[in-house]
Amino acid sequence: MATHQDDKQLFQGESHASAYKQYRPRYEKTDLVEKIMTFLQEKLDPPYDCALDLGCGSGQSSQLLLPHFTKVIGVDCSEAQVKEALNTPFLKNISFRCGDEKDLGFIPDNSLEVVACGQSIHWMDLGTLYPEIDRILKPGGCLAAYGYVTRTVHVIDGESALEGQLQSLYKEIDDWIDPYYSKSIDVLLGGYYDLPLPYSDQKRFSNMKFYAEVTVDSLIGLVQSFSAFQIAIKQSPEKSNILDEYKQK
Ligand SMILES: C[S@@+](CC[C@H](N)C(=O)[O-])C[C@H]1O[C@@H](n2cnc3c(N)ncnc32)[C@H](O)[C@@H]1O
Repeated sequence: MATHQDDKQLFQGESHASAYKQYRPRYEKTDLVEKIMTFLQEKLDPPYDCALDLGCGSGQSSQLLLPHFTKVIGVDCSEAQVKEALNTPFLKNISFRCGDEKDLGFIPDNSLEVVACGQSIHWMDLGTLYPEIDRILKPGGCLAAYGYVTRTVHVIDGESALEGQLQSLYKEIDDWIDPYYSKSIDVLLGGYYDLPLPYSDQKRFSNMKFYAEVTVDSLIGLVQSFSAFQIAIKQSPEKSNILDEYKQK
């Protein structure tokens, strides 16, 4: 059975990190950050000094927090992801470093208003994480754990025949990579309903919409950014051009 240690290897590849940065959706067209800030404002008055984005990946989720805090710290266990995050023009007031939930000792006690885990808490050892969150969050601070699932495709303005064709191609790829997902991802696929949270004061937002314009190329790039696809290709290198074949279809 895969451990958190094994899971930490899942995002280490450089080409994986580059696909992640290029093709994973950004969060601008959601009201995610407004929801986080409204929750926070009910407990703590602004101005807000610092947020931690744990499992920050290539930095898109850190960028989202930046307008609301004097500074943002992004931490990710993948060097390749941190390298991509550092290689972006929005670095003012954000710092990135490599690490995981065990490596938060550099953050002083009671110093953060928000710890955000975007699409990442399911990879972490919660027994280590939660005591650290309790230590570093200010009283009234907020843990924001969120994620999204991209296992089906809808065409908003377009032909339904195209939607059917895209859905069946996407399903074919998804069925192929499905066995390669780490079990840790089940909690995310289940909408975090089974995520144990030791906080009585919590709010849940379900079915939030996440709009993104996609092309066939960007859809294929998105698939390349999935951890299961990266494992599938490693284990069956002869299939490495499978996505090009789908592109031709
Ligand atoms: C799916 S990405 C999410 C990236 C970004 N937060 C976003 O919303 O797009 C998950 C990230 O969590 C990182 N990760 C996995 N386990 C981790 C851990 N235990 N501590 C820190 N980062 C971790 C991975 O390296 C990966 O970059």
